[in-house]
Amino acid sequence: MSREEGLQRRYSRLEEALEIKSLRRIISAYINYADAAEEDVKRYERSFRKLSREHKGLLSHLPLKFQRFRRCISANSFFIMNMLQAFDPPFDMSQDIDFDGHSDIGRFSNGHLCTHASHHMQDYSAYVKGSVPESIDIASGPELSSCSGSCDQTPSNRNNEKQEISSESSCSLVMNMNTPNGNTNLIDESMDKVKLICNLDASLHDSTPNGNVRCIIRNIVRDWAVEGQKERDQCYKPILEELNRLFPDRCKERPPSCLVPGAGLGRLALEISCLGFVSQGNEFSYYMMICSSFILNQTEAANQWIIYPWIHGNCNSLSDDDQFRPISFPDIQPASAGITEGFSMCGGDFIEVYNDMDQEGAWDAVVTCFFLDTAHNIVEYIEIISKVLKDGGVWINLGPLLYHFADSCAPEEEMSIEISLEDAKKVALQYGFEIEMEKIIETTYTANPRSMMQNHYYAAFWTMKKKPRT
Ligand SMILES: C[S@@+](CC[C@H](N)C(=O)[O-])C[C@H]1O[C@@H](n2cnc3c(N)ncnc32)[C@H](O)[C@@H]1O
Repeated sequence: MSREEGLQRRYSRLEEALEIKSLRRIISAYINYADAAEEDVKRYERSFRKLSREHKGLLSHLPLKFQRFRRCISANSFFIMNMLQAFDPPFDMSQDIDFDGHSDIGRFSNGHLCTHASHHMQDYSAYVKGSVPESIDIASGPELSSCSGSCDQTPSNRNNEKQEISSESSCSLVMNMNTPNGNTNLIDESMDKVKLICNLDASLHDSTPNGNVRCIIRNIVRDWAVEGQKERDQCYKPILEELNRLFPDRCKERPPSCLVPGAGLGRLALEISCLGFVSQGNEFSYYMMICSSFILNQTEAANQWIIYPWIHGNCNSLSDDDQFRPISFPDIQPASAGITEGFSMCGGDFIEVYNDMDQEGAWDAVVTCFFLDTAHNIVEYIEIISKVLKDGGVWINLGPLLYHFADSCAPEEEMSIEISLEDAKKVALQYGFEIEMEKIIETTYTANPRSMMQNHYYAAFWTMKKKPRT
């Protein structure tokens, strides 16, 4: 082995160790969901106990409300537990990771672990044949204000292979449980098994922040519940209509291809597939990929699951019933939605995966929805989008410019290029785009439609065409 090969191997081992570490944190956050939520309920109870007798009397229903919280938390945990049981990690999670005292570890400390050409692909085309696989496999947004840049734990797969739906799983616990029935012991036992299989450290369990898990729960509503339909109509429908307009002569034999970077929980990528495109979602957050994989791969029937997404906010609630309303999902069964063959999800950092010679001129369309502002360097995103498109290919974008790294407390070495819409469009023109259509679309993002507070974006929506080189 040459010195270079030796270094490369050590480097890969280091990357894998770091990815395992990162993945353990995310699984811990999911496992820790119920405990973190219970802490909130205890806090409500403590405050209630501080009330005078007279005030307590006026709010005498609150103790029952606290118990209601606990039942909803159990139901949410039940879903999470099923999802984790179905998760087949891309690594042997039982191994003790060893950093070899490698001094480069600091370079990765921001959680962006993806390396060049490292990606993890999942092909959902097996579903076109209409079967629900019995097996378990992995693939894998936040409310922008609370989650920006933080649901960003990166998957990678150095094997660089497309992963087909498999029938083997190292992490499968195969416990067929269909109803929560408030059986918290069963949930705890199952979570303990996942902890064991993934070799999770107790300290990690206690210290992992839980905001991202709550973001995922809200994203489930956006992408996969009837209640999210209005938001999907605001964001996804105009994009789908544009694709339909721009590719009127799609044929099944040679469907056009469409890449969806920052695909979140995968609904838009799925809808594009159903429209007759070879669609590929790209996503770098394990939080997202674990959940999207479960919904896309494991759903047996529409509305199979029930969660209570709105229990985590006491503010701006019109009534307790609003706060405790259940949401069933997914509203459709992905397997029977009419996917076009070749639908896949590719895990990894957009920049790392697609800034590659193989990807040059590979796509007929790129669709970015609430994605551009996730960049450290938006110019680099635009450059890569231009590179991966064929000449004459189209880029449809919808979203605000709420730059995820625009944080004055960020470490000095962290880059965040925060340009205006006008400048972003100028950059696009420099990369060979011409504007075909542009407008502003008013929309929400993972909003609770019954909240007294609604954040609305006036999102940029455009179609640009990559001019053929002369
Ligand atoms: C605001 S969310 C939007 C998700 C989805 N497009 C939607 O409209 O619901 C942005 C998504 O991009 C993902 N993301 C951010 N940076 C990324 C990167 N460099 N590569 C791949 N995905 C990324 C995040 O994990 C997140 O799921």
